[in-house]
Amino acid sequence: MKFFIDTANLAQIQEAQELGVLDGVTTNPSLMAKEGISGDANVKAHYKAICAIVDGDVSAEVISTDYEGMIKEGEELAALDEKIVVKIPMIKDGVKALKYFSDKGIKTNCTLIFSAGQALMAAKAGATYVSPFIGRLDDISTDGLDLIESIRIIFDNYDFGTEILAASVRHPMHIIQCAEIGADVMTGPLSAMEALLKHPLTDIGLAKFLADHAKANS
Ligand code: G3P
Repeated sequence: MKFFIDTANLAQIQEAQELGVLDGVTTNPSLMAKEGISGDANVKAHYKAICAIVDGDVSAEVISTDYEGMIKEGEELAALDEKIVVKIPMIKDGVKALKYFSDKGIKTNCTLIFSAGQALMAAKAGATYVSPFIGRLDDISTDGLDLIESIRIIFDNYDFGTEILAASVRHPMHIIQCAEIGADVMTGPLSAMEALLKHPLTDIGLAKFLADHAKANS
């Protein structure tokens, strides 16, 4: 399972990269705005800065919602760095844009997926990744993990090459359950990744080992 970090914060991306478990980055317009990044030149410079830190794919989202606009923006984003994956919303023109980029060999991430039907459409159009939003479904009392399971079954039935990128991950159990289901990728905050490595018995065990060592060597 690949681990992507879902942020535009350079310090957190650097920290995850140094941890040695990072496979890529996802961003969205809200995450860019959160970092105070605005204006075309600044946005592009920020994507380049992210690409300079990580070894894997970096999703950069288009703002346009019409076909021509998405193609123009997506081509500009893809030209920034070979790590850039063009992130396209699940709308009708978006599906057409997915097909266009797929035919050109440019990687895509179809975002705002909330149903298996949407994932199937994106896969048919040749999306590299689909991003079902688990946490936002949980927020409306609908089990987001059921959607991951359903998409997994459909993609496996037909050997779709499209990868399931579980997004809107909020906590470590989301990551573990996505891994059990077989999501190809998860994208979440650094806090959720770091929570995976914690266990109180590890801390207690280590303290005891060190205390016993200190006693024996005093
Ligand atoms: O990047 C898309 C997705 O991961 C957003 O997550 O927490 O805003 O629902 P969240």
